[in-house]
Amino acid sequence: MIRMWTGLWTLALQELFAHGQNELIESNCDVQGMLQLKLQPDIVKPETTTTEPAEASAANLSNSSQPPLVTLMPTQALPAPVVNITTFHWEPHWQCAETDSACIAAALSKFKELVSESGAQIVGALELKGASGALPGWSSSKEYEDAVSVMVAPGWQVLKEGGGNIRCDGQRGLAVMLVKPPFQVSNCDTLCVMAVHPGHSPIQSGESIVKSVCGDATTSCAIAVGDWNVDAAGVVGGSFNTWQRLVGGNPPSFVVPDSETCCYPSTCCKFDHVVTNIPGAEPLQVHVWPYQLLGQFGMDEEHMPVAVRFSAPAKTTLIG
Ligand SMILES: *[C@@H]1O[C@H](CO)[C@@H](O)[C@H](O)[C@H]1NC(C)=O
Ligand SMILES: *[C@@H]1O[C@H](CO)[C@@H](O)[C@H](O)[C@H]1NC(C)=O
Ligand SMILES: *[C@@H]1O[C@H](CO)[C@@H](O)[C@H](O)[C@H]1NC(C)=O
Repeated sequence: MIRMWTGLWTLALQELFAHGQNELIESNCDVQGMLQLKLQPDIVKPETTTTEPAEASAANLSNSSQPPLVTLMPTQALPAPVVNITTFHWEPHWQCAETDSACIAAALSKFKELVSESGAQIVGALELKGASGALPGWSSSKEYEDAVSVMVAPGWQVLKEGGGNIRCDGQRGLAVMLVKPPFQVSNCDTLCVMAVHPGHSPIQSGESIVKSVCGDATTSCAIAVGDWNVDAAGVVGGSFNTWQRLVGGNPPSFVVPDSETCCYPSTCCKFDHVVTNIPGAEPLQVHVWPYQLLGQFGMDEEHMPVAVRFSAPAKTTLIG
């Protein structure tokens, strides 16, 4: 099958800056389902960074008794070494993937197929029963509230695992693992990987679970995929401020995609994102698949599957 990766992330970033956060009207604990949305046009301005061309100094080197000690810098420095990581996550939703055995089997089969197609090393499943045992050779968390689990590819070592409820009514899940990838990523000895499913209002717990599993790896070595039930602006700030509430440490280096990924049949909401606070991490490619099992099952509130490939600095080495 041809992989149709698209450069959607630039579009997603533009949208993040062009639009504000989707505020949800809600008084109490939400139930599993969509709620009315109100658009608040609070504009977030992108930070502009200007790179000054290096000043070419016209030193007259011929007037010197010594051979020149300084050679002019080449106009382009060698690119810093990077590593690439790919994530995949999908939420087929509970009406199919937690209750109907035929639909669960079909969703798991599609899940395995898309994980393979994406080439992902980190995978999250939400409201998908049985996903934690579906990928042969992979390491997985347990399945937590609303069938949330996180998996890492063969070769990735799991040091610690945990998860639990991050909502007052016990319906929203978090799965988290402290892992050691088979290659060095930035200055991270370990990575904190998460599948997250906060509710339709700001989260009330979960940070203690993340901290107890990941410890200091939350500071600048965290990667989370999931259905955040808020757009990218709400992940990084606003009244939800989910990243700070759940993970803390460095603010996100990126939140992608920020496009409408849910939910069948009323696509309205930018809820599925991949987020990391690894400094210098940059999205390379974002792929959003269309809804999957339509025509075969009802697929109420199915989300679109999402894969993101991003680069992160390889281990930084000091010069001299
Ligand atoms: C550099 O210095 C030498 C010796 O002082 C002089 O002859 C020459 O014209 C200078 N060249 C420039 C570009 O200033
Ligand atoms: C080199 O520069 C110095 C300081 O500007 C000057 O005193 C000297 O005369 C110059 N030498 C030549 C060969 O131009
Ligand atoms: C990472 O991805 C970039 C962009 O596709 C590619 O040029 C580079 O070779 C990749 N690096 C590694 C280490 O795979």
